[in-house]
Amino acid sequence: MDETSTLRERIARLKRERRAVILAHYYTTPDVQAVADFLGDSLALAVQAQSVEAETILFAGVHFMAETAKVLCPDKRVLIPTLEAGCSLAESCDAGEFARFRARYPDHTVVSYVNTSVGVKALTDICCTSSNALRVVESLPADRPVLFAPDRNLGSYIQRLTGRTNMVLWDGACHVHEEFSLEKILDLKREHPGAKVVVHPECKAHVVAAADFVGSTAAILEYCGRSDAAEFIVVTEPGILAEMHRRYPGKRFIPAPPIDSTCGCNDCRYMKMITLENIAECLERMSPEVEIDEEIRRRAERSIRNMIAIR
Ligand code: 13P
Ligand code: SF4
Repeated sequence: MDETSTLRERIARLKRERRAVILAHYYTTPDVQAVADFLGDSLALAVQAQSVEAETILFAGVHFMAETAKVLCPDKRVLIPTLEAGCSLAESCDAGEFARFRARYPDHTVVSYVNTSVGVKALTDICCTSSNALRVVESLPADRPVLFAPDRNLGSYIQRLTGRTNMVLWDGACHVHEEFSLEKILDLKREHPGAKVVVHPECKAHVVAAADFVGSTAAILEYCGRSDAAEFIVVTEPGILAEMHRRYPGKRFIPAPPIDSTCGCNDCRYMKMITLENIAECLERMSPEVEIDEEIRRRAERSIRNMIAIR
């Protein structure tokens, strides 16, 4: 048996022994996706975490996603294979700095993207993901000022869609989505004139403007299924390609290159820290485990539940 098959068997045995389920994000590597019980975007994973019956959730994704599962399921043990799996966007918004920023806008409703630490969620009125950010902002009266954090690109995209002038944005960004090159996307479009350009809203505005479709990972997947096109230029983290090939084997998916084609910087280095080896080790040791202060958890739970109610 090869090494991957041995690891897969070990993980399957440990999952049974530990009564654990694995939730994985689309940006993890294909071999990690293959051992998941549930694969999804960040909204679907948060919703799924609530209906898990197993005692233990192993989160194959980044830390803020595992934290969200723990906030929603405080009685479950939530494991993450490495605590190093952070997120450049979540890290661009420190909870202490955010508290000072928020204090300058006392009459604003705080909407935060789930790509934040639990400390920022505790300072938030309502969370959102890229799947439901528009619905969340539109659920608020048009004259209610909004403080949107932490992604400036998603925030300005929502501003453009809603025409709201009363939105203040935190100046954060994701290092992966900001690296796409418009010139290279347009070159690809010239080579593949029938291809549709699908873009995640964390990309910069000039890249979003070149899109045929803008949406979260789940929304992009659905669009590729319902579109008549046979080819797609995919402007988000390339981990999503595995699910695209599984769902639509007859279609062609072309990953958009970064500005510097040699850097591999459109791979989310944090998602790629999750491996079959560290999943097996984590289940073996039942560690590292996500722990959250109960007072902060309760405050964060309110903002996440407000989000799920709007789904
Ligand atoms: P989704 O909300 O589309 O899952 O995206 C999460 C993310 O981290 C994007 O960079
Ligand atoms: Fe965070 Fe960007 Fe990675 Fe998404 S792709 S988890 S926003 S660093």
